Amino acid sequence: MPLLNSIAIDGPAASGKSTLAKRLADALDYLFFDTGVMYRAVTYAVLAQGGDAGDEALCTRVAEGLDIDVQPASQTDGRQADVLIDGRDCTWEIRQPQVDASVSIVAAYPGVRQALTGPQRRIGLRGRVVMVGRDIGTVVLPEADLKIYLDASVAERARRRFEERRRSGKPEEFERLLDSIRQRDRLDASRDLAPLRPAEDAVIVDSDGKNADEVFAEMLALVEARQDAG
Ligand code: CDP
Repeated sequence: MPLLNSIAIDGPAASGKSTLAKRLADALDYLFFDTGVMYRAVTYAVLAQGGDAGDEALCTRVAEGLDIDVQPASQTDGRQADVLIDGRDCTWEIRQPQVDASVSIVAAYPGVRQALTGPQRRIGLRGRVVMVGRDIGTVVLPEADLKIYLDASVAERARRRFEERRRSGKPEEFERLLDSIRQRDRLDASRDLAPLRPAEDAVIVDSDGKNADEVFAEMLALVEARQDAG
């Protein structure tokens, strides 16, 4: 059975991409690479130095000079990986509501995307990777052997994020999460550069009304079918 080189998983905010991609990567013994972490890290670094997400030049400079590292999870507190910025563990800081509120503004800047997509593509081209984001199948790794666009209704996604935040001990109001997700989707889908949309050859998986095990089984079946076809 020929192995797939790379798998791209894109989709809107909180569609379960990271959780399912991590499971898939573990099952296949592939690298799990969540590109959203990089946009979040740039946004966090800008805000942490008192900067403004509206300052394009600053955001671009930070993206170009950012020392970001992703390591296997060192703690069992719900994290999928450790995210280090300049050597400091910022795994949870990059998930703060302030970062949620600004990340899509920062991610729309061409200079920021240019600084981040080069390294992403280099890692993707090494193969044996499950890459997660908004533009992996369309821009970062269009040659991916399997592209999945993971979707769900905004209400379902907000419910999942609400549960996730509650479980990790950082609860947020449901209505605020719903608004923040809607806002991010709108900005991500309407930007000029690398907007959120399924690649033409992506398989759309709708996870509404399905639990994680069911979605995982569907994704694994897609991998197996693609391997058999290869
Ligand atoms: O986990 P969640 O779905 O909430 O978001 P994320 O994957 O961590 O991505 C955070 C933000 O980064 C997105 O809303 C996009 O604005 C941006 N992003 C992007 O533009 N391109 C990517 N490949 C990944 C994330």
